[in-house]
Amino acid sequence: MGIKKFQHCNSRSGIDTKEAAYIQISQSVIYAEGVTPVKKPAPAFLQNWIQELSTTERLDAGVLRSILKQNTPSLEDLSAWVQYDHEPCFSYGRSTLWSSERCGIHVMTWNPGDFTAPHGHGEADWALMYFLGDGDQRVYEVSGGQIKLQARQKIPAGSVLTPHIAGFCHAMGNLGSKPFLTLHIYGSDHHRGIPTEGSKIYEIEKNRIRRSKGPAFLEMAENFYIDNSTEALNCDQETRQDYYECIRSYFQRTGLDARLR
Ligand SMILES: [Fe+2]
Repeated sequence: MGIKKFQHCNSRSGIDTKEAAYIQISQSVIYAEGVTPVKKPAPAFLQNWIQELSTTERLDAGVLRSILKQNTPSLEDLSAWVQYDHEPCFSYGRSTLWSSERCGIHVMTWNPGDFTAPHGHGEADWALMYFLGDGDQRVYEVSGGQIKLQARQKIPAGSVLTPHIAGFCHAMGNLGSKPFLTLHIYGSDHHRGIPTEGSKIYEIEKNRIRRSKGPAFLEMAENFYIDNSTEALNCDQETRQDYYECIRSYFQRTGLDARLR
């Protein structure tokens, strides 16, 4: 297992997501993007989840909801994966609790102004998102090289979302004033490896689509992309303006806001 730490935020080249996903977690390694992995005993909820996710033959949104209901983590349970102090260059905090050949569990930390790029979910067939605070979501319709805003949503604390993940495109983040966490499970029935591998990232500000190894960071470092392929992306003015409002805080804190005019 490679234990690495980013020397400088802008380099963001220390940890490869694929490498991270295959770290032998053995219920004790806590991994976060940009942070040195540390060992700590897994809380009971996670041990139960790993047991269920490893032994249940057929997994789907209903099973995931049931697993969450039976083993709902508290904020304290998730404290080891929280990244309220994540580097400002990361547009949100992303920690991996556990991953296997067919699913992965993540905790995302959302400080005020944190947001993802609009993105798909690669090879995932099922997904669950549990909001431990009030969040924001944008849902998009995508077709070829076109993306269009479909819905602006406030997601209240306690919500559990299990969207039909194939073809689902969204962005999420924190347009409020308080940090919060979300817990995510992604899995695939047909793909062996990282379920979100190959996720399309719709970089509206660059008029392009790229493919990720899993994360959906804004201004993502090159090592998080699966390859260097690029597709052209178009959108209408309403979609672009709404997106720019969602990501403006991040671009301001990283000194890139001139790009959004
Ligand atoms: Fe997502």
